Amino acid sequence: MCIFSTQYLLLSLILCPNLVTMSTGEHKLYLTGASGLLGRAIFKKFQQEGWNVYGTAFSRVNKDLHKVDITQESELSNSIKEFHPDIIIHTAAERFPDKVDKNPEGAKKLNVEATRHLCNVAKAHNIPVIYISTDYVFDGKAAPYSVDATPNPVNLYGETKLQGEKETLGASADNIVLRVPVLYGPVESLNESAVTVLFSVLKDTNKAAQVSNFERRNPSHVNDIATVCHQLSTARIVKKQAGISGIFHWCGDEVMTKYEMIEHMSDVFTMPMAHVQWVVDIGDKPGVVRPYDTRLDKTRLKALGFGQHTPFKSGIEEACAPFY
Ligand SMILES: NC(=O)c1ccc[n+]([C@@H]2O[C@H](COP(=O)([O-])OP(=O)(O)OC[C@H]3O[C@@H](n4cnc5c(N)ncnc54)[C@H](OP(=O)(O)O)[C@@H]3O)[C@@H](O)[C@H]2O)c1
Repeated sequence: MCIFSTQYLLLSLILCPNLVTMSTGEHKLYLTGASGLLGRAIFKKFQQEGWNVYGTAFSRVNKDLHKVDITQESELSNSIKEFHPDIIIHTAAERFPDKVDKNPEGAKKLNVEATRHLCNVAKAHNIPVIYISTDYVFDGKAAPYSVDATPNPVNLYGETKLQGEKETLGASADNIVLRVPVLYGPVESLNESAVTVLFSVLKDTNKAAQVSNFERRNPSHVNDIATVCHQLSTARIVKKQAGISGIFHWCGDEVMTKYEMIEHMSDVFTMPMAHVQWVVDIGDKPGVVRPYDTRLDKTRLKALGFGQHTPFKSGIEEACAPFY
């Protein structure tokens, strides 16, 4: 009988290799920012993997998402308590540095205070949190940055995200901070991502443009970050693996300036770029200061066998094709 059951299980796995994945259906993810650039990819990935996902949105609610203003303590805590997730992934934030400078109080409320409250509720119910942070916690002068490198943000956005990290790990050292670089992927409009917005510069051949060939970035596809989130959550919740807490880093393998990103786009879509001129931006222009090189050291995730890299050319082709 026992041998028969084992044979039956093996046969089922051969005929239905997704059986193991499907059996994770009882695992529950509470996801803030599910309407955002990264949140959409995480929502899709976890649903595909059979998780039960409670995705929250604020201004872009749709039939799959729940409206929760995370700056309203009771709205946030009631929805977490009702759903009672196994894990929370917290992506919601104000992530445009210029908007943070224009409304510092609003940004602190969302990036810091809401994070504090979310982590306190999570702690009270013994729910681990993955907080999505940024390479902008570093000053960009000493890349690559290891997970224990000392942060030193050069703008207010980076400061609020660093405060959010402190709230997350202060609430529980078992929580997770995942720092990621500039993101791109399927966008609702080209200006949704600091990478895809460059495709509108390339397309506008009648308008001469100056683009920075100075700051170095490692753009990452949102699907790669969603995969890392799924790997961390599975290790922590499903496999109950030890050591899945604290700070992790992920970024794309390819380093490039904004001008080089446009060169790749021009190659992929065979579009002229004579109207685009590169400039060496030494950071003395008006506006928010940005770090020079924020490459993140991925050793910790790689040692776990985690991570995924979408080659920039294929990722950007897919992301920009609808706007070609
Ligand atoms: N994008 C990047 O290049 C990048 C780079 C490094 C790190 N990150 C980090 O990655 C995370 C995700 O970024 P993203 O690019 O996906 O951001 P995003 O596209 O701007 O999305 C922000 C999300 O936050 C939600 N939100 C805003 N105010 C809210 C409120 N009061 N209550 C509840 N939800 C609210 C938005 O909801 P609605 O849209 O429905 O209003 C949206 O879902 C952020 O923590 C960011 O700091 C992003």
